[in-house]
Amino acid sequence: MLPKSPVGKKILMAVSGQAMILFIVIHVLGNSTLFFGGLNAYAEKLHSLPLLVWLTRLTMAGMLFLHVFFSIKVTLENRRAKLEEYAVKKPLRSTFASRNMIWTGVVIAAFLIYHLFHFTFQVISPENSAGMNTDASGNPDVAGMVISGFQNSIVSLIYMVAMIALVLHLTHGIQSSFQSLGLNNESTLPLIEKSGSVAAIILFLGYISIPLAILLGMMKG
Ligand code: HEM
Repeated sequence: MLPKSPVGKKILMAVSGQAMILFIVIHVLGNSTLFFGGLNAYAEKLHSLPLLVWLTRLTMAGMLFLHVFFSIKVTLENRRAKLEEYAVKKPLRSTFASRNMIWTGVVIAAFLIYHLFHFTFQVISPENSAGMNTDASGNPDVAGMVISGFQNSIVSLIYMVAMIALVLHLTHGIQSSFQSLGLNNESTLPLIEKSGSVAAIILFLGYISIPLAILLGMMKG
């Protein structure tokens, strides 16, 4: 059965990872509307589609569960295999990102919990929350909440550290997911590796530009 075989586990991790990357791409595009004064209208539009919102939430929660469950299982199995072998062989081409997938994953998971309490449950600084403040059009002021949040340098620092973990995780994760799905061969591997890193860096710049722009005073609430 798929979840029992080593290859099956890698395939489930790859598919769940790619589904979450799709969310991460859509989320950064949505967030970037902040630069054009459109974040509140975008958030309002999303919340007017509760079926879409809840289907996405449930799918992503399922994908996250699969990804975390199998990554812990694979890490423990690899560790056990290494102990049994005793003479630890280094993977053929390991990188800092590939060796630390479990730790960058832990940082991202911790960030996600913080992020949900910050912007979704809005309990971290409720006085600036979108639920408590509206903009000139009467929409919940999501942009105001994000800007006032990132004006606090500790909050911005938390986000920037998380984005560094994210870029490291994706640099290895994107190319590895294509390999797990068998979509590589000798000639396409270098291209897949390079494209994975470029995509990870583009996402990183997209996300980090928001706290950076706010910290540098380029956007005011
Ligand atoms: C600078 C970086 C980020 C900003 C400014 C940001 C902004 C936001 C905002 C404003 C919301 C609440 C949307 C609403 O309810 O109207 C939100 C929700 C969320 N964000 Fe982010 N985000 C950032 C990074 C990330 C990253 C890197 C991830 C994933 C690794 C992520 C995952 C989520 C999730 C899962 C939700 C909950 C969506 C829901 O309501 O179901 N965010 N984000």
